[in-house]
Amino acid sequence: MNELEVKAEITKNKPIRGFIFTCSNKTEAECFEKLLFGTDRVYGPVVIRIRKEDLLFLVNTDKDVIYGVFRAITDGGFKIVPNAWKGKYPYQVKVEILGEILELKEANELLKRFEIKRNTPLFGKKLLDFLDLFIPKTTLLNIEEENKNSETIRLILEEKKKIKERGNERDIEEEIPLIESTTFWDFPKQSYGITPKGDNKYPGVTPSLVIYNMVWRYTDPGDLVVDPMAGSGTTLDVCREEKRRCICYDISPTRPEIIQNDARKIPLEDESVDLIFIDSPYGDNIRYNDHPDCIGKISAESEKFYDELEKVMRECYRILKPGKVLGWLIGDQWVKNKFTPVGFKVYERLCKYFEPVDIICVARRGQASHTNLWHNRARRLNFYLRGFKYLIIVKKPLKNEKKRPRGKIEWAYYERRKNSNDS
Ligand SMILES: C[S@@+](CC[C@H](N)C(=O)[O-])C[C@H]1O[C@@H](n2cnc3c(N)ncnc32)[C@H](O)[C@@H]1O
Repeated sequence: MNELEVKAEITKNKPIRGFIFTCSNKTEAECFEKLLFGTDRVYGPVVIRIRKEDLLFLVNTDKDVIYGVFRAITDGGFKIVPNAWKGKYPYQVKVEILGEILELKEANELLKRFEIKRNTPLFGKKLLDFLDLFIPKTTLLNIEEENKNSETIRLILEEKKKIKERGNERDIEEEIPLIESTTFWDFPKQSYGITPKGDNKYPGVTPSLVIYNMVWRYTDPGDLVVDPMAGSGTTLDVCREEKRRCICYDISPTRPEIIQNDARKIPLEDESVDLIFIDSPYGDNIRYNDHPDCIGKISAESEKFYDELEKVMRECYRILKPGKVLGWLIGDQWVKNKFTPVGFKVYERLCKYFEPVDIICVARRGQASHTNLWHNRARRLNFYLRGFKYLIIVKKPLKNEKKRPRGKIEWAYYERRKNSNDS
């Protein structure tokens, strides 16, 4: 079997899902001429999950109508037709029409009634009910009696039959995460989606949505992502699912796909990488392994810890392409009555090489120390349990990058509403 045949075999008999695309009066014609639906990065994670044979619906938001029913004839992909919509909507899927295009009015109302969001695939009963909207009730009765002329209705009914036959709903991702819009990220679970990402039993495992957000903000499908301190391989699993290439290293690999390597010397060429993600040790608070070169054996109270991490930063700088981004997850330390601002110290070192992009506050969840006993101790003995980590996002400057002159800033001033209870 060649690669395509293997893929077809995997997709065969998978449940059929329904996805919503949107267009406007301006973009509609190109959708129909090219039989191509497209969207930008915001809904990129949804599009790359579309499989050949899934059903698609197109909402024209200006006209408030839903067009249907379409069937994907390719998997969702990136730049299938690179210059469609002048490159504005690169996440695309090729479609065919089931018979003729049917039109439903009051799209907004219908989507609300069915509680359909663009990042929630339709499946099972909801998809069957939604398809029924395209079949006039009277026709439905007639078609069964007389198998009349409506080819379109016949094709929709055929799809309904297929949906019922393949009705295994276990494999359906109910909500595809959207990328975060603020600098506060709080993820209730370590993983997302159907397959596990990394090993949530691994000490210091990274919340996979942190990596998901980095990957979707700063790379395109096919780009190369590197994690020099990969632990249980969360980065590897996220990249696989999000269709990025990935190389993972660790001083003490936990899986065969992770290459044994010291992050202070990375065996990659200069300027060859599109994104680096690192969740480094935060000091010697966790025993990762017994390898003598594990940086997690050095106390964050000693300058040596930052000197060793700086060697990793220099390597990251070398392998990263100009203009590309490094995300470094790090937390502070409070041990035996002593606070160490590990995050600030790492930030300072990073700024020796990189330009700051932003800092994200990542809520710490599922910490072993967050027991009632420790919460009470923290209150009684007047210290704080660590509630967040920093995700420091920095960029390798472009060569000869000129600083843009900053024009006058027009600040918007907001007046406080009277009687507002907002803090
Ligand atoms: C916080 S963990 C990474 C967790 C990982 N992102 C995950 O989700 O499983 C830090 C990792 O750094 C690795 N490490 C420590 N010193 C290293 C070094 N010198 N070179 C490469 N990896 C190192 C440790 O083995 C550990 O797996």
